Amino acid sequence: MADVSGALGTLTQQALRELADAQDVGALEEWRTAVLGRNGSLAGHMRAIGQLPPDQRPGAGQAANAAKRALETAYDERESQLRSVALDSQIEADRIDLTLPARRLHTGALHPTTQTLRRITSIFRDLGFRVTEGPEVELDWYNFEALNIPEEHPARDMWDTFYVNPPSVVMRTHTSPVQIRTMEHSQPPVRVICPGRCYRYEAQDASHEWMFYQVEGLAVDQGLTMADLKGVLVAFAQRMFWPDIQCRFRCDYFPFVEPGMEMSVQCPVCRGSGCRVCKASGWLELLGAGMVHPEVLRKVGYDPDAVNGFAFGMGPESIAMVTHAIDDIRLFYGNDLRFLQQFA
Ligand code: PHE
Repeated sequence: MADVSGALGTLTQQALRELADAQDVGALEEWRTAVLGRNGSLAGHMRAIGQLPPDQRPGAGQAANAAKRALETAYDERESQLRSVALDSQIEADRIDLTLPARRLHTGALHPTTQTLRRITSIFRDLGFRVTEGPEVELDWYNFEALNIPEEHPARDMWDTFYVNPPSVVMRTHTSPVQIRTMEHSQPPVRVICPGRCYRYEAQDASHEWMFYQVEGLAVDQGLTMADLKGVLVAFAQRMFWPDIQCRFRCDYFPFVEPGMEMSVQCPVCRGSGCRVCKASGWLELLGAGMVHPEVLRKVGYDPDAVNGFAFGMGPESIAMVTHAIDDIRLFYGNDLRFLQQFA
């Protein structure tokens, strides 16, 4: 009996020492098999008890069971210790440094030209105009001929032209060809507004680009007058800028209108007192306009004695330049994000 309990004591002591030495889950598992497993040291001890004289077996059995429970408890404790150590080091390894500056998110925004075009078209929509478009690669017929600008006419010098396929295919130099295309496939009353890109063979500088936008307007009906044209343009300027803005009309020449004129508005930057943008004049030229030339109506098969119309054309970049105080048109399509991001 003394022998058996001594052996149990030694076994237990040694097992507890080994348990304390186990440093990870793997070592812990090995320990469990070696001590508490079916062929482990404790099981060996239990078997040895079977060899004892019957009167000693109950006492030895109880002692062995008590030792087993003690070892199991010790195992559970050691296991949870090791697990929390493992968890701590995992947490430490996965730690996120919240003080690091975040990666910046860039949100896109509409191009200043697009923003201006949308404002312009929405104003004319409210005034009863429909939005329509035409091709940028255009036939000489639509860009010039049908607009009363015959070949060899000196007025062609007004538009420096990129020829795609000379002499008949050009990059359109203005949006006025959309007037012709619209009238060709519709009957009066016509009220359209046509935004789009135009191209000119131009030396670039702060106020000239080889590609820019225009917004064309056209109305054809019975009995339209200059008063209707001026009314529409003033209503537009009042909505685009401010309600009591001053507008000025002066004679100008475009082969496809008669009479022709240009409209200037009180400088939106200085409100007319004179500044760098308006070159101290207080006025800014905003658009060209006029009554559609009878010859143009005839070219599309309209009867100039029965209907007449008015047309106008403006440059959205020039409008954006005054509303945003931009002093160089080349900034628009130079793709410099430092410029573009200012309109976000
Ligand atoms: N198309 C002319 C230009 O490019 C502008 C304009 C349009 C003038 C319509 C009168 C009528 O300058």
